[in-house]
Amino acid sequence: VLFIGEAPGATEDATGLPFTGRAGKLLDSMLASVGLDRSEIYIANTIKCRPPQNRDPFPEEQAACLPWLKGQLELIRPKMIVCLGRISAMRFIKPDFRITQEHGVWFEREGRKIMAVYHPAALLRDPSKRGDAFEDLRKVEIEIEKLKASGEEGHLLIKAILGLGDLVSNVNIPNRGQIPNLPIGAVVETNAIFGRDRIQPVFAGDV
Ligand code: URA
Repeated sequence: VLFIGEAPGATEDATGLPFTGRAGKLLDSMLASVGLDRSEIYIANTIKCRPPQNRDPFPEEQAACLPWLKGQLELIRPKMIVCLGRISAMRFIKPDFRITQEHGVWFEREGRKIMAVYHPAALLRDPSKRGDAFEDLRKVEIEIEKLKASGEEGHLLIKAILGLGDLVSNVNIPNRGQIPNLPIGAVVETNAIFGRDRIQPVFAGDV
């Protein structure tokens, strides 16, 4: 599961780690309340540097940082995404996202489930929303349990060498498309390659 916050704050800028300040402590306890911890999830931010005076990031700042986030998505290939707060949801779910009305609702984007929950900083300001946040995270937990039951959680990563016309994809998201700018002969980490003569998932022996 990939959690996407907004932007680093002062503590995060100093440590280089996401959600290490007060909001991060609350996030940890919210995760713990549904049996999750940071070792099982990945946390990223829409932008990678702290905006002056902690103001909302500008769209052009988000656009400038998007390639990094896309790179993280490509490497992590999350089964689901949880947006922490309105700013992240407006970027990854829809521009007119209304957090008060649409938190806890699953959407589908690019073949994966995505939901927004209240940002932990908003929950520090308004503790009355914490019950809603708990209910929403409980839905994430249920989805994880479903994935585990279907045996789809996690993925087998292998190294493979790209051939002519190869499409690299995740077996669970077939035909996601060719990873751009990878030359023939590039070594990639993936769990499936769709090509002219190999329409099958590849396994370690094919490397
Ligand atoms: N708020 C965020 O959105 N991200 C962080 O990393 C810390 C606080």
